[in-house]
Amino acid sequence: MDEIRIAGGTPLRGTVSIQGSKNAALPMMAAALLCRGVSVLRSCPGIADVFCMEKILQELGAFTWWDGDDLYMDCTLADKTEIPGRYTEKMRSSVILLGAMLGRNGRGRLGYPGGCVIGKRPVDLHLETLRRLGAEVFEEKCLIRASAKKLRAARIVFPRRSVGATEQGILAAVLAEGETCLENCAEEPEISWLCRYLRGMGAEITGEGSGRIRIRGVERLSGGDMKVPPDRIVAGTYICAGAATRGRIRLKNPPLEELTAFLEVYRKIGGQYKVKSGTLIADSTGVSVPADEVRTEVYPGFPTDLQSPLLAVLATIPGESRIRETIFEDRFKTVPELNRMGARITVKDGEALIRGGYPLTGCTVRARELRGGAALVVAALAAEGITTVEGYSFIERGYEQIGRDLRDLGGRVWR
Ligand code: UD1
Repeated sequence: MDEIRIAGGTPLRGTVSIQGSKNAALPMMAAALLCRGVSVLRSCPGIADVFCMEKILQELGAFTWWDGDDLYMDCTLADKTEIPGRYTEKMRSSVILLGAMLGRNGRGRLGYPGGCVIGKRPVDLHLETLRRLGAEVFEEKCLIRASAKKLRAARIVFPRRSVGATEQGILAAVLAEGETCLENCAEEPEISWLCRYLRGMGAEITGEGSGRIRIRGVERLSGGDMKVPPDRIVAGTYICAGAATRGRIRLKNPPLEELTAFLEVYRKIGGQYKVKSGTLIADSTGVSVPADEVRTEVYPGFPTDLQSPLLAVLATIPGESRIRETIFEDRFKTVPELNRMGARITVKDGEALIRGGYPLTGCTVRARELRGGAALVVAALAAEGITTVEGYSFIERGYEQIGRDLRDLGGRVWR
């Protein structure tokens, strides 16, 4: 059954390890395509999006295998250049493979990218970036086609910050001729992890984590080998689960620095945290203060991916809270489902007004996208009675074992 059940009302207590990051692993898997050899991703999360990316690499001719949590990708023979729509419609980030295919073989075709239904999500910046690097790009009805005899370095100023388009530019430029300068880049940590991975493969990149990234093209890359960093969004989700139930939880291997903006909000609503022997202890027993205005922002601001889980927390705090979404125009799809559980949230002009403190009650709700699904699980943990969250497959895209992890924290969760 594509659902997860939660008996709520118990404060979470216990320790949980944070899985590897989805948004770091996926572009690193795309990077593996740039080398005719074997690349490894250690502690790679076993989530649906990673399995989908693995299938795509296989479709292109790669051999892949797992040794425990380590994913091996032998891309020696991965010279096919077409990715069928059945994969790309499932996962938007597959579009970054276009830059990698161009870098490797000078051409690529893929079905139009899909992914979470959280707004328009165009790919214009991706395609324009590839054009600026010398590719010819054609958009057909359900297909994107690109080719280039040889990609050439360029100076590209992104008109808006985009994580995916920055990654696309990096992946396409590492094997291009000359020195590329990308400006107004997104500064998300996952971009820095991609650059580190590529540098380990022999790429020459500087400036990641800032708005200006320089890439000097090299002739070839060797295999990459790195541990996938812990997932900041999963860590934030579990802290939200602790907060919604007024629990006290400990996170092993927390990506502390990457959580700064989130932890600032957590502290404002009454959460307390400390770092002890490399673990983060998040004590939510004092969570009680509404948030006057949280705004989602590009990194290092408050992450849009944690907006929905935070909504669920704020629904449990008496008083009025507000969250403004500035990254994706349609990312409040979970609100009607939260309201079915008893929350009182209204959305107007990109802002959610949460009248918190009304009791949440278990019922059947439906996840329609990944982080919204996680938010329903958070709300269910705080609700009286049993909640069935349908659409579990959305949650599985990014959370390896949300049921097991929450059970480790004392949650009553089963599939
Ligand atoms: C990535 C993350 C996603 C996160 C988002 C913002 C991955 C796999 N996904 O998504 O979890 O929510 O960053 O932190 O890493 N845009 C355009 N044209 C484009 C590309 C983007 O207009 O060609 C717009 C988008 O519609 C959106 C904004 O730019 O409004 C930011 O999107 P972007 O940073 O590209 O997000 P993703 O890379 O899709």
